[in-house]
Amino acid sequence: MAFLSDTLARVKPSPTIAVTTKAQALKAEGKDVIGLGAGEPDFDTPENIREAAKRAIDAGKTRYTAVDGIPELKAAICAKFLRENGLTYTPQQVSVGTGGKQILYNALMATLNPGDEVIIPAPYWVSYPDMVLLAGGTPVPVVAGIETAFKLTPAQLEAAITPKTKWFIFNSPSNPTGAGYTRDELKGLTEVLMRHPQVWVMSDDMYEHLVFDDFKFCTPAEVEPGLYDRTLTCNGVSKAYAMTGWRIGYAAGPVSLIKAMGTIQSQSTSNPCSVSQYAALEALSGPQEFLADWRRVFQGRRDLVVSMLNQAKGIRCPKPEGAFYVYPDIAGVIGKATPSGTVISNDEVFATALLEETGVAVVFGAAFGLSPNFRVSYATSDEVLREACARIQSFCASLV
Ligand SMILES: Cc1ncc(COP(=O)(O)O)c(C=O)c1O
Repeated sequence: MAFLSDTLARVKPSPTIAVTTKAQALKAEGKDVIGLGAGEPDFDTPENIREAAKRAIDAGKTRYTAVDGIPELKAAICAKFLRENGLTYTPQQVSVGTGGKQILYNALMATLNPGDEVIIPAPYWVSYPDMVLLAGGTPVPVVAGIETAFKLTPAQLEAAITPKTKWFIFNSPSNPTGAGYTRDELKGLTEVLMRHPQVWVMSDDMYEHLVFDDFKFCTPAEVEPGLYDRTLTCNGVSKAYAMTGWRIGYAAGPVSLIKAMGTIQSQSTSNPCSVSQYAALEALSGPQEFLADWRRVFQGRRDLVVSMLNQAKGIRCPKPEGAFYVYPDIAGVIGKATPSGTVISNDEVFATALLEETGVAVVFGAAFGLSPNFRVSYATSDEVLREACARIQSFCASLV
C-alpha cells in the first residue's frame, strides 16, 4: 500500500514559493541576491490595523469564532461590496476564510465532481489549476497571449465552454501579468456567460485596489447583474492592505454555495484567526486614503520596470493596468547562450541562469502556463528595482 495519496501525485508545490525559498537560501550563503519572486507588498500593515489587533488580543478576542467569520466583519464586507462595487449582499451571503487562497479552495472543494471542467485563462495564478486538481476537477487553461495584452477574448471563452464546464475563473488585475479588463472587455465575456447558464463565475478580485492611470476596476456581478446568482465574488485584505501574513480572505455569493463552503471550512480550519478578523474589520472600515498613496508608489515602480526591461536586449515588456507584476516576453533570447555556455532553451533555464549569474530571482513563465516569459514582482524599492533591471539588462546583453 502506498503511503502517499493519489491526490498528492496530481499536484506540484507552488513554484513561486520555491523561487523565494531558493533566493533566501542563496542569501543565507552570503550571495548578493535580489528577490523579485514574492507576491507581497513591501509595506508594513498600517498602524491603525495593527492597533485594532492589539486591542482585540487585550479584549480577549482569542477564542474560536463563528466558522465563516464574526458578524462585525461580515457586516463590514457587505458595506465594502456596496460602497466599492455597487453589489448588495447580506451577511448570510458572505464567507471569511484563512486567506483568499482558502476561500477559492473551499469553493472548488464544495462544488467540483470528477469530470467537471474549470476554465482558467493562462497565464494564470499558479494555484488555480492545482486547486482544481486537488478538488477532483479538470483545469482547462486557455492561453491569452501578448497579442491580446494577456486578456481572454469572448470567442476564446465561447470555444472553451462545454456541457461539463462548471466554473470560469476570472482574475483582473491579474497575477502574473497585471492585465486588467476594461468594462467593455469584461462585458464581452459576460455576454458569452449569459448564453451558458450552467457555468458559474469565480471572480478573484484580489488586486482590485492596485490599478493605475485612469483604469477603472470592475467585477462580473456588477457589470452583468444577470450573473449575480451564479457568481462568487472573491477578495481579501492581503495585497491591498499589506496583510499577507494575517491570512484573511472573503467572498460573497449565493447562500447555498456559501453554506457549502462553510461545511468544508468547519472540517478543516474551523475559523479564520480571531485576531486577524478584527484587524481585517479595521482595514475595511477604517481610513482608506493611504490606498491612493500606495497606488502612486506602485505606478512609479511599474513605469520604471517597464521602461528598463524594454531596454534589455531580446525582452518585450507590456505595460499592465494593475497589480504589482510585469510579465515580459523573452522570445528574443531563446536559443542564445550565456558566456559560460548555457543555452537558454526555455524560460526556466533563463530564470535559473539569471539567478545563478546575476543574483536576480524571478519566476519562469512555464509555472504560469505561458512561455517564454518570466514574472517580476516589483513590490520593492526603486533603488532595488533599478539595480535588478540593470543586472537583467547586462545579462541579456551578454547572451550570444
Ligand atoms: C490572484 C491571487 N488570488 C489569490 C491570492 C491569495 O491571497 P491570500 O494571500 O489572501 O491567500 C493571491 C496571492 O498571491 C493571488 O495572487
